[in-house]
Amino acid sequence: MPADLSRQGARFIAAQRRLPQELLAAIGSGAELLVDTICYSALDARTLLPLAGLAGSTVMISSKAVYVDGSGNHSNSTTPPKFQGAIGEGHSTVPPGGGDWNSPEGYGRNKVAAEMVLLESGLPVTIIRPSKIHGRGASRPREWVFVRRVLDKRKAVFLCARGAAVDHTTAAVNLAELVALVAAKPGPRVLNSADPDAPSALLIARTIADQMGHHWEEILLEETADPALGRHPWARLHPILLDTTAATTLGYRPVGDYATTVADEIAWLVDLCRQAGGASRDIGLDSDYFQQFFDYSAEDAFLAERAAAHD
Ligand SMILES: NC(=O)c1ccc[n+]([C@@H]2O[C@H](COP(=O)([O-])OP(=O)(O)OC[C@H]3O[C@@H](n4cnc5c(N)ncnc54)[C@H](OP(=O)(O)O)[C@@H]3O)[C@@H](O)[C@H]2O)c1
Repeated sequence: MPADLSRQGARFIAAQRRLPQELLAAIGSGAELLVDTICYSALDARTLLPLAGLAGSTVMISSKAVYVDGSGNHSNSTTPPKFQGAIGEGHSTVPPGGGDWNSPEGYGRNKVAAEMVLLESGLPVTIIRPSKIHGRGASRPREWVFVRRVLDKRKAVFLCARGAAVDHTTAAVNLAELVALVAAKPGPRVLNSADPDAPSALLIARTIADQMGHHWEEILLEETADPALGRHPWARLHPILLDTTAATTLGYRPVGDYATTVADEIAWLVDLCRQAGGASRDIGLDSDYFQQFFDYSAEDAFLAERAAAHD
């Protein structure tokens, strides 16, 4: 439990999400606000309904992965989606479906199926669709890709497609602010959640380097460059932007922009490294996922070749 929450009287009750009796025992006689962060399918949504009946306001965290472009592509498609402008909540979604929710094709479809169960229940359930979430304590903090490079004192950062890619960021604290608003304004609805700005990969890298007091050369690669170079988690062929007008109209005001809100996650990652002994990068993150972003030998070869060409 985060210490500040404990100090305010919060208690952690462990429960298996897919065991209805454990969930009912956890909620007891009811709650003012119920937030489900791990509702991935229609079955999960049906398990939530009896609890939502005991809550003043319920929030289900869905995802922007439900949105589909004019050609039927979504954010987990093999063919990258191409949306026209910022995506509003009324935009088309993938059809509801079942199967494996933990798969590229099943994730969005199962989320839509879950959303439908909740929205058709008649209960005050708000569906929130975030984009790429960042914040302290994330199980896969994407910013590590640049934080680690700074800690490793890399002299250059490589960015594919000139670093121009945009995949809207969502600060956990901005998402939490929206949830707090919904607690006071229960109702069945769908709301996007994203940061007030939508930084490109280049701006994300630059923000992190600046905040960590590091200077590096930004090497902006063309599409034809070696695919081992310049990988990062926000790579998108076409920008993905969420329209957050509906949240703003309801009264939501963001806690801060990307640069302001990401500072805490950076501090947390740096602190984890310090606790692990400074030089260690083994800080309990998902190394299978992250290793694709750290091909330092390919970068060093590129820099050596460039230097030789200039000699
Ligand atoms: N991360 C993003 O960028 C992103 C973007 C859009 C939407 N979302 C949505 O946001 C939600 C949270 O995503 P996340 O990335 O934070 O997920 P996550 O890192 O996988 O965290 C899920 C948490 O739920 C716990 N959990 C999982 N299954 C459980 C079960 N059956 N019973 C009890 N606890 C369980 C996990 O505990 P353990 O750690 O003990 O396994 C973990 O603490 C999801 O609904 C996701 O679809 C996430």
